[in-house]
Amino acid sequence: MSDPEALLRIAVEAAGEAGRLLASWRGDERPEIVDTKSSPTDVVTEMDRRSEALITEWIRAVRPGDAVLGEEGGQTLGGPGATDAGGRAQVRWVVDPLDGTVNYLYGLPDWAVSIAAEVDGTILAGVVEVPRFGERFTAVAGRGAWLHRDGSAIALRCNTGVTLGQALVGTGFGYDASRRQVQGEVVAALLPHVRDIRRGGSAAVDLCSVAAGRMDAFFERGLNYWDYAAGGLIAREAGALVGGLAGRPESTAMTVAAGPDLFRHLDTFLTRLDPERDTPRGS
Ligand code: IPD
Ligand code: CA
Ligand code: CA
Repeated sequence: MSDPEALLRIAVEAAGEAGRLLASWRGDERPEIVDTKSSPTDVVTEMDRRSEALITEWIRAVRPGDAVLGEEGGQTLGGPGATDAGGRAQVRWVVDPLDGTVNYLYGLPDWAVSIAAEVDGTILAGVVEVPRFGERFTAVAGRGAWLHRDGSAIALRCNTGVTLGQALVGTGFGYDASRRQVQGEVVAALLPHVRDIRRGGSAAVDLCSVAAGRMDAFFERGLNYWDYAAGGLIAREAGALVGGLAGRPESTAMTVAAGPDLFRHLDTFLTRLDPERDTPRGS
């Protein structure tokens, strides 16, 4: 079994290097859009690819037998249940090389590098590096969540005892137009019942904001594993419940994070809205 603290150190080093690479682009011009994915607004820049290449090479240099699941490159080596040469469960690194690409493209500061280390389907360690704020969020399973800034480390606790009516709730929208229409319906129904809504533009940062008590709750339909793998561990280690609706685990269908009481209220409210559909009402 790999030592989770050692895995975290590798993730932190790789995320730090990738963060420096991404931040080194000065922004006189927008980085070049080199591809689109699920829709014309789901863009990939040269910097997404360069960041992922750097992270993959960094991990390969220190742990050549591990699997890497990266947003841009897909899965390399291994798979669930794979073992290394010594018969130990293989580590799989789950990487979003640039979460918040649209913010990055527009020069907005909410973007991050997210790296998680998974063994046997469980995330053991994760880092979310947020270069424009000089912040690094980390967690190791069972050992709490931390914010590193200006040379100090602050233990994170999410907000608790917040009612739905007092809650600041973050969310996000996918890239598919029909799904977005449903997401708009859901937000419209929720908005009169909460303090306010935030759409930050990086799910990894949003989950860390729940961990740090900067937001009370977060939910989003359609996230990919690399969006929430590290941030989900960080939120959970800060005391939040992280899951899907109606007792299901967090997944692409739905990811919700909040202090335990608020999670239950949000779960009940959202479930009534049937937010996991992709067809707007009346169509
Ligand atoms: C996106 C961001 C965004 C969320 C989208 C994600 P990307 O990731 O996390 O906040 O709303 O669902 O796809 O494309 O910038 O890596
Ligand atoms: Ca992402
Ligand atoms: Ca990304």
